[in-house]
Amino acid sequence: MGEPWQREFEFAVEVARKAGAEIRKAGDSEIRIMTKSCTVDLVTKTDERVEKIIIGSLKEEFGEGTHCFIGEESVAKGEPCILTDKPTWIIDPVDGTTNFVHGFPFVAVSIAFAVNKELEFGVVYSCLEDKMYKAQNGKGAFCNGEPIQVSDVKDIKKSIIISEHGYDRTPASVTKIFSTMRKILCIPVHGIRGSGTAATNMCLVASGAVEAFFEIGIHCWDIAAGAVIVKEAGGVLLDVDGGPFDLMSRRMVSANNDVIATRIIKEIEPFPVVRDDAP
Ligand code: IPD
Repeated sequence: MGEPWQREFEFAVEVARKAGAEIRKAGDSEIRIMTKSCTVDLVTKTDERVEKIIIGSLKEEFGEGTHCFIGEESVAKGEPCILTDKPTWIIDPVDGTTNFVHGFPFVAVSIAFAVNKELEFGVVYSCLEDKMYKAQNGKGAFCNGEPIQVSDVKDIKKSIIISEHGYDRTPASVTKIFSTMRKILCIPVHGIRGSGTAATNMCLVASGAVEAFFEIGIHCWDIAAGAVIVKEAGGVLLDVDGGPFDLMSRRMVSANNDVIATRIIKEIEPFPVVRDDAP
């Protein structure tokens, strides 16, 4: 018998590459924009088509019924977002939809696989840069076949931190987001960045380009694959209150080590979000 979930992992890489090629092709033609939860939460025909391609390919390969699927666009259309013990694919077909719409050059396909509620592997294909990030539990993290590692910086004053703002434009939440960013910037850190895709942000932590990425308001499909990649590159994942990372909580700190993570957590001002698996 081969390694557990090896066939699924290899197929996920293949499907992510195929999905990325579709996204690149679609970016050259007219992009039809629609909105989801609010006027700044965008979705395009490409998001929907690419998700259908990914889920269709996975069902064809592994059979319907045995695997479950949590896909960003399927959930937007009313499919459940519940992680059970069954083998489950967690998919964001186009992470960075706003970037895609505007031609800002960071867009990723994110595919993760969980069994018994534990993430087994993650694949993030940053398709405009042609960077394939992947990691399997216990086997290290890779970018285009080369091993990657988080940075060894422990002094927050020597760090770059990524923070994103998501789609919540409630003045109270925006005030908290900017108050947190102000405090972190004034520590002072070397800089604050943001690529516009949570999956890519996590790969930047994993490859040592930045020390941490945190966000309140992200979804499980934005971060599931990145979580495996960060962990396998030697990094840590925590809740924004310092508790254990919870994939469905919509809150996350990913960092190169505990020292950086806990220093950032000291400054984070949380605001309420509804869990992904809320009834
Ligand atoms: C979004 C991106 C963005 C993050 C948002 C996500 P989407 O994903 O990852 O960086 O700030 O919270 O929802 O909507 O482009 O798939």
